[in-house]
Amino acid sequence: MRVIEANDLTKRFGQLVAVDHVSFSVEESEIFGFLGPNGAGKTTTINMLTTLLNPTEGSAKVGGFDVEKQDGKVREVVGLVPQDITVDDDLTGMENMMLQAKLYHVPTKVARERTMEALSLVALTDAANRRVETYSGGMRKRLELAEGLIHYPKVLFLDEPTLGLDVQTRVVMWDYIKKLRDEHKITMFLTTHYMEEADVLCDRIAIIDQGKIVALDTPENLKDSLGGDIIELEFNNKKDDQTDTLKSLSQVKDVKKIGDTYRIKVSRGEKALPDIIENLLKMDLRIGRVSLIKPTLDQVYLEYTGRSLRETQGETMEVWRRMRTLRRVRE
Ligand SMILES: Nc1ncnc2c1ncn2[C@@H]1O[C@H](COP(=O)(O)OP(=O)(O)OP(=O)(O)O)[C@@H](O)[C@H]1O
Ligand SMILES: [Mg+2]
Repeated sequence: MRVIEANDLTKRFGQLVAVDHVSFSVEESEIFGFLGPNGAGKTTTINMLTTLLNPTEGSAKVGGFDVEKQDGKVREVVGLVPQDITVDDDLTGMENMMLQAKLYHVPTKVARERTMEALSLVALTDAANRRVETYSGGMRKRLELAEGLIHYPKVLFLDEPTLGLDVQTRVVMWDYIKKLRDEHKITMFLTTHYMEEADVLCDRIAIIDQGKIVALDTPENLKDSLGGDIIELEFNNKKDDQTDTLKSLSQVKDVKKIGDTYRIKVSRGEKALPDIIENLLKMDLRIGRVSLIKPTLDQVYLEYTGRSLRETQGETMEVWRRMRTLRRVRE
């Protein structure tokens, strides 16, 4: 079943086309990622899909409901974990959750039960009665994730779920997101500008650049579209040139020799590598060193947008944004 469907979804802010005729669909229980740099249009897309913004053009359905004509219905089926910090420092985790429940009109009786359940899902039960002020960055993000679950959404929108977190905490968040999908069948739409995150977490990825989807596929296929993997290989006998021998093997697309190392282009490295080794051993060629190099999503991004995706740029923006948010909260 299609849980999200966007058709030529477009948002203009004056002259600026923030989201430019974007079309895609997300299946039930899928983890779908929007990958792109600052200003690509990721948050704007989420805001339209969660009814916070009206599209300028095009249409979208979430949970089978039209985001414009049936916005109330859409709000019942979506949960949102927004990009900016939303939890209140002066309240406890529990109090924050109860406030969220009120916002979503969850009756107080069930709210307490669901709060405990959601907090335990993200391992915050022990910290439930502590003020959020005392939470680490990772704990806050987990609390925000729990808040997004209070009304049992079918679809959860996660806007940069791990931005600003250290690598270890990021991995923990990935586990929670996967668990929600695996155990609760929640469909996930997330945005990120971390290549690795998109790669590890998402079933399919749309690469978005300046409001347009420039590529959409599984991480594997996107990487394959670059022309495959590279096997680097050295023979024990370095005297004889084996370029032609390697080229004659059926799995091999191309061979380049750099020094004593052969760089062999193949389409599916993990399948081709054992076959190639077996063939070479049959010919009595002894292998001294071998390694498999897979293209990264970084390279995919570069290929499709012509620019490299600088993660540091995002970090700087995030620090700046947090300072601004904190200032706003304090005022
Ligand atoms: N309310 C608004 N008014 C005018 N311009 C806006 C508004 N909201 C967003 N924009 C612009 O639309 C473009 C897309 O912004 P958006 O927040 O969707 O990007 P993003 O991909 O989420 O970026 P980031 O990675 O920094 O969160 C940007 O150029 C932004 O400046
Ligand atoms: Mg954003």
